[in-house]
Amino acid sequence: MATQPAEKGFSHKKIERNVTLLGALALVVVTIGGIVEIAPLFWIDNTIEKVDGMRPYTPLELAGRNIYMREGCYTCHSQMIRPFRDEVERYGHYSLAAESMYDHPFQWGSKRTGPDLARVGGRYSDEWHRAHLADPRSVVPESVMPPYAFLAERELKAGDMRKDLTALSRVGVPYSDADVEKANEDLAAQADPNADTSDLLKRYPKAQARDFDGDPAKLTEMDALVAYLQMLGTLVDVEKGAPQEQPHEATTQAEKAR
Ligand code: HEC
Repeated sequence: MATQPAEKGFSHKKIERNVTLLGALALVVVTIGGIVEIAPLFWIDNTIEKVDGMRPYTPLELAGRNIYMREGCYTCHSQMIRPFRDEVERYGHYSLAAESMYDHPFQWGSKRTGPDLARVGGRYSDEWHRAHLADPRSVVPESVMPPYAFLAERELKAGDMRKDLTALSRVGVPYSDADVEKANEDLAAQADPNADTSDLLKRYPKAQARDFDGDPAKLTEMDALVAYLQMLGTLVDVEKGAPQEQPHEATTQAEKAR
C-alpha cells in the first residue's frame, strides 16, 4: 500500500516490535560505542598533557612526602585545586593532571579540614613552617591542626633511598641511573648548606637546597617535610601560556562593573 512504504526494505517498526531484535541491535550499537571510546587507550602511552617543568621528586622531597603520608596529613589536606573561581582565587591556578603524574600514590584527597596544599610551596618561609608544624596555634591562633614538634627532634632515617627511587622507576617515574645511584648522597646534600649541590640541581631543576629545619648540623624529619612543602606547586610555570586566565578575568571584570 502506498501509505506504508516503510514496510519494504528497512523498517523501524519491525525492530521496535521485536524485543529480542531491539535488544540485540542495541547491544551492537553500545558495543561499537564502547570500543571507540576504550580501544584508543590501549595504544596511547599517556592521557596526560605534557607540561614544562615537571620532574620527579628529589630524594629529600620524597622522604618528606613519605612523612606526610605516615603522619596522615592527607586526612585533613587535599592537593587538588579544582577549576572553580572560589578555589582559584584562594589557592592559585587549578591543578594540572601533569602536576601529579609522578605521585604514587597521588595525594588529591577530598577531605579539607585544612586548606589545599597543592601550591603551598613558597607561600611561607621555612621558619613559618617550622613554627607552624611545631605548634600551629603559635602562628594561627584559631587552628585545629595538631602539633608535630617531634619532627624537629627526630633524625631523618629514610632508609636506602635508592630502593624508593628504583620502585618508582618501575611504575614509570623517569629517574636516571645517576639519580638512583646518588639517591642517598642527594638526600643529605639538599639540606646541608656546606654540600656541593651543583650536580643535584642539574639533575633536579628548581630543587631548593638549603637547611630547612633551622639546624644545619642535623638532618631531621623536619628538613624533609619542609623541603617537600616548599616545592609543592613550584615546578610548573602555570601562568605561562596556560589557558586559565578566565577565572581571574571574570573577577576583574566583575570588579570593574562595580
Ligand atoms: C586534624 C586536621 C589536620 C591535620 C592532620 C593536619 N593539618 Fe595542616 N592544617 C589544618 C588546618 C585546620 C589548617 C588551617 C589553620 C592553620 O593554618 O593552622 C592547616 C594548615 C596547614 C598549613 C598552612 C596552609 C596554608 O595555606 O595556610 C600547612 C602547610 C599544613 N597545614 C601542613 C600540614 C602537614 C604537613 C600535616 C601533617 C604533618 C598537617 N598539616 C596535618 C588541619 C590539619
